[in-house]
Amino acid sequence: MLHVNENYSKIKPTYLFAEIAHRVTAHQKAHPDAKVIRLGIGDVTEPLAPSVIAAMHKAVDDEGGKGDFHGYGPEQGYAFLREKIAKVDFQDRGIDISADEILVSDGAKCDCGNIQELFGADVKIAVGDPVYPVYVDTNVMAGRHDIMLLPCTAENGFVPGPEGCEADIVYLCYPNNPTGAIATKAQLQAWVDWANAKKALILFDAAYEAFIRNPEIPRSIYECAGAKTCAIEIRSFSKTAGFTGIRCGYTVVPNELVAYNADGTPVPLRPMWTRRQTTKFNGASYITQRGAEAIYSPEGQKECKDIIDFYLGNAKLMKDALKTLGYDVTGGDDSPYLWVNVKGDSWEFFDKLLKEANVVTTPGAGFGKAGEGYIRISAFNSRANVLEAIERLKKVL
Ligand code: MLT
Repeated sequence: MLHVNENYSKIKPTYLFAEIAHRVTAHQKAHPDAKVIRLGIGDVTEPLAPSVIAAMHKAVDDEGGKGDFHGYGPEQGYAFLREKIAKVDFQDRGIDISADEILVSDGAKCDCGNIQELFGADVKIAVGDPVYPVYVDTNVMAGRHDIMLLPCTAENGFVPGPEGCEADIVYLCYPNNPTGAIATKAQLQAWVDWANAKKALILFDAAYEAFIRNPEIPRSIYECAGAKTCAIEIRSFSKTAGFTGIRCGYTVVPNELVAYNADGTPVPLRPMWTRRQTTKFNGASYITQRGAEAIYSPEGQKECKDIIDFYLGNAKLMKDALKTLGYDVTGGDDSPYLWVNVKGDSWEFFDKLLKEANVVTTPGAGFGKAGEGYIRISAFNSRANVLEAIERLKKVL
């Protein structure tokens, strides 16, 4: 008899953003004339940077025979991209990461979901609560049901510390999705010291690092002393450079990072991740990687920063408006997400905004129990839509 993976029965039947899309579609069907403004899923709205577009056009010409044609590329990513990443994202900022420690992929979501395959079924996982659902769901799908939740509350500034954490692997994401909270260097250093002392691992999701404007806040876990022996960092070009529809990201697995066999023998993780990726993945496309390379040119850097500043401008407008309406709001300063205390049921509040204001948000409960009482608002939209959404919220709230 054909057996299913019964772990799937332990997760919700639909992924959070699929559930939201379903409710929005039903609302639109019932009100075909409603102009719905989407501030739910963090999906970019601004066009790609001009440097990226030019580089991708040129890459299409290469593939069309006007330059160097490329078939299968290296599964770890082209050297031209990995070397730029190592230099601009790390070495120029005084961080010792080399190109061979970087593996390019088709986005952070896949890497976040796939990385758990490297570890034993019995490893103990810890995540924040609320949390990006991918970390939890992918571990439950793999049979790890007993996941430790670290409450992220207004009392701890939405940044839990390692005290009392008994896990082997902790997922940390800063700037945080969904709360928009940022972690100080001292807070991250405490986690690094904890992980090194316990021989544990930090899976650091830095998908939103490009939104950090406060120079005191680390943009990489490797800014902390000792992080190379206890942390994997996952990055994305989705929010940094508007690649949600293009798909590209990368994961840093330092050469010195190990996990252990049952007999205590250390096993380096970088060759394992390389083995996994070269077996199950054929690499991001040449055209995509040429586009990603252009992000690292001086013009590309400036263009991408300007687009992020624009989204941060949206966040500020919405944060100010919600505060004027009397709501407690976290995030939005070094992050594209606002975390709004709605002092009530988050799905009810979500439905109210959808039905009465035609504005889509994300209910906090969708990110975990401790998200109840909050909604997440994304700053990814046009300025006109953000201003219009603010006017509608003022009327409804
Ligand atoms: C979000 O809205 O949380 C993100 O866009 C989802 C993702 O990056 O997969």
